[in-house]
Amino acid sequence: MRISEITLKPFRNFKELRLRFNTDRVLIGGANGQGKSNILEAISYLSIGKSVRGAQDAQAIPHQGQYFDIRAVCWDGPHHHQLRLFYGNQEGKKIFCDGTPLPRIADVLGIFKTVHFSPEDVALVMRFPAQRRRLLDILISQTSVPYLYDLQQYQRVLAQRNQMLKMSRGALRESDHEALDTWDTQLARLGARIRLRRLEVVGGMQGVLADHYGRLSGQRESAGISYQHSPSLEGHREPTEDMLCEDLRQEMKNRRAAELQLGHTRCGSHRDNLVFTLGGHPADTFASEGQLKTLLIAWKMAEIHVLSGDAGPGPVLLLDDVFSELDTQRSAALMELVGGFGQVVLTVPKRPGEPFCAGYEEIWLDA
Ligand SMILES: Nc1ncnc2c1ncn2[C@@H]1O[C@H](COP(=O)(O)OP(=O)(O)OP(=O)(O)O)[C@@H](O)[C@H]1O
Ligand SMILES: [Mg+2]
Repeated sequence: MRISEITLKPFRNFKELRLRFNTDRVLIGGANGQGKSNILEAISYLSIGKSVRGAQDAQAIPHQGQYFDIRAVCWDGPHHHQLRLFYGNQEGKKIFCDGTPLPRIADVLGIFKTVHFSPEDVALVMRFPAQRRRLLDILISQTSVPYLYDLQQYQRVLAQRNQMLKMSRGALRESDHEALDTWDTQLARLGARIRLRRLEVVGGMQGVLADHYGRLSGQRESAGISYQHSPSLEGHREPTEDMLCEDLRQEMKNRRAAELQLGHTRCGSHRDNLVFTLGGHPADTFASEGQLKTLLIAWKMAEIHVLSGDAGPGPVLLLDDVFSELDTQRSAALMELVGGFGQVVLTVPKRPGEPFCAGYEEIWLDA
């Protein structure tokens, strides 16, 4: 699905903004603070039903306002769809497709797919495992709503289990142990499903990420990704859900005494790690800023591969301020790579000096 029009009335710094995209190659330009990142955030709101920056919905309401309202026209061949996301302090969040309210916010996932790159994410994602899990979860949720439900259910069970561990203060009655056993069983099953899906998706991205990183760096460097979890199922190339579940249950059992002392759950899919490597070394400790940025871009390219699937149109690629910190060669390689993709909307704070964006429809916010 492509996007041909977006209306923010209002959203963050915009009281009213209406943009039309006439082509598949759009460049939104404007000085710092004009709202370029906000526009891309608004577009991706319609895709994932929440802020891609991890902001609370209320933070996107204009200062002194009571609500925000994002509307877009999207199309897929001859079919046009109106998407709308409204959030009000009083009303809460509502999503509409062609005027019909969707029963749940999660129902919006998969209708209009986007891949969002932001330089803010480079530091966050590359330095913090929780942010990398979030990246992966947003991606997989766009391909599978049941995955999102598993995640939500996992969080609920985990919170209850932690509550129990905390209240026990190291000592549990027999009946409490039985209750904990029940939480463990549920958590192991949900955690195994989450882990298996993440392993599958990351496995499918490894080759694409390495290939794209190679091309972006002019084949000077090699990059990789892996999904690490404990226990690691060493030697099993293709774990099953039952294997992962049994391992998780066993791990929780082994750690129960220690977790009772600590008061929280130290093992499970909420502690797993998506690891980026550069030349075989962990990127979060060794890579330069530009290399980290290149890695995240290569990851985003691999996201497109996942979301494009076997059939149907690919996602819309939203690139926020993507050229900053990239050398000329990497910027040119990036534009060549995205040349083959469906729709691309990118932002720049000033006119690019090189002819990277020849053929892009330009929209200047302060013009
Ligand atoms: N809820 C809000 N209400 C009003 N203004 C907001 C709100 N949230 C953010 N802003 C403002 O929106 C403005 C534009 O922010 P945005 O990050 O989109 O700018 P930008 O064009 O991407 O700038 P840069 O080139 O520096 O990245 C900022 O001045 C910010 O303070
Ligand atoms: Mg910005």
